[in-house]
Amino acid sequence: MLKRFFTCLLITSGLYLPASVYADGAGLYARHCAACHGAEGNGGVGVPLALPAFLKSVDDAFLSKSIRDGRPGRVMPAFSKLSDVEVKSLVKYIRSWSDSPAATFSTVAVHGNARHGKKLFAKFCASCHGANGEGGHGTGVTFSRPRDLPIIAPAINNAGFLTSASDQLIKRTLMQGREGTPMVSFLKQGMTEADINDVVAYVRSFEKNQSNQTQESFDKEPLTLAYESPYDMKGTIDRVKAAAKGKNFRIIREQKLENGLVKQSEENPNQVIVYFCNFQLLNQALTVDPRVGLFLPCRVTISESKGQVVIYAINPKRLSKLFNNHELNKLCDGMYETYTSILEEATL
Ligand code: HEC
Ligand code: HEC
Repeated sequence: MLKRFFTCLLITSGLYLPASVYADGAGLYARHCAACHGAEGNGGVGVPLALPAFLKSVDDAFLSKSIRDGRPGRVMPAFSKLSDVEVKSLVKYIRSWSDSPAATFSTVAVHGNARHGKKLFAKFCASCHGANGEGGHGTGVTFSRPRDLPIIAPAINNAGFLTSASDQLIKRTLMQGREGTPMVSFLKQGMTEADINDVVAYVRSFEKNQSNQTQESFDKEPLTLAYESPYDMKGTIDRVKAAAKGKNFRIIREQKLENGLVKQSEENPNQVIVYFCNFQLLNQALTVDPRVGLFLPCRVTISESKGQVVIYAINPKRLSKLFNNHELNKLCDGMYETYTSILEEATL
């Protein structure tokens, strides 16, 4: 009795963990995956993982490599810091959603005519997976995709996918489809097995044409944009507002940086945030990736120290990296142009 009480106390105080808790698949899933793939694996921002047809058509290597490497630029992060034991227990947990055993595949490569496969791809696949296999647009969240498409087609020209999926896995997916998803069996669509081999050869050829847009190009971007202002606090704030209005933004409010953190009378008057918003842009951004909402409305911080006023804004180009979403690149580039022109104009 006493021993149980102490064990309980130690567990709740976080000092003692029974061995089985070290790689608790359910706990790891809840912490790292559920937000995107749904608590029960039913999908959300990420594709559903619990569908029997999906689990039946992939092997454990595909699952663990997908977790390790992620899908660069396609929202799915790479979980490179999880231990092998942790990845294994995640796979085991995902497997617990289905009774059917994991698929197994021979390692024999599929040979086919990639040139013919390319033609078939344009005809049968591009409408969902994109002209170059770049995947469907938006995310699995309802308002960011057409309602009649329950699952976004994954990117299949993606380095993370191509290293995770063997030729035979891709072939079986095309032969059998994934029941309950828009991905149908292409044998039933009139392709022959030879045609399917050609398409597999074409999909494999994406490996050679990986876009070289590495995440490093984003690393060179500074986290924040900073401009020195030749004006005083009030003059600078007025100019920021005027410049934002000139770019079709509505000023939402102006508040001290310390608002809510200290007593109102103690707020530093030399640190002010101006919030502004453009609802059209807001909707556009949320459609591409709802997580952008975390950084909205737009804000600029104006701060004075020793007589020098400086304007700061976060660098929107860093968002694409943070969110691992190539689709945000164009939008973030646009936001970067807008921010820099507002900051430049305000400090001119
Ligand atoms: C109607 C839309 C649609 C069409 C057409 C389509 N797919 Fe798919 N495809 C999907 C969806 C959605 C999935 C995800 C299924 C899932 O969640 O398991 C998928 C999954 C896949 C996968 C597995 C990817 C992964 O990450 O697990 C491959 C490979 C694939 N498709 C290749 C093709 C090829 C090649 C063609 C043409 C012969 C094709 N698809 C046609 C919608 C489509
Ligand atoms: C920030 C959102 C997000 C998180 C967190 C996330 N995923 Fe994903 N995941 C995705 C998206 C989106 C895709 C589809 C990629 C595409 O469209 O090309 C995906 C794809 C996958 C795939 C490939 C599915 C297929 O049909 O081929 C697996 C497996 C997977 N995720 C497992 C996991 C696991 C396990 C975790 C937790 C360790 C996790 N994901 C965390 C968003 C996420």
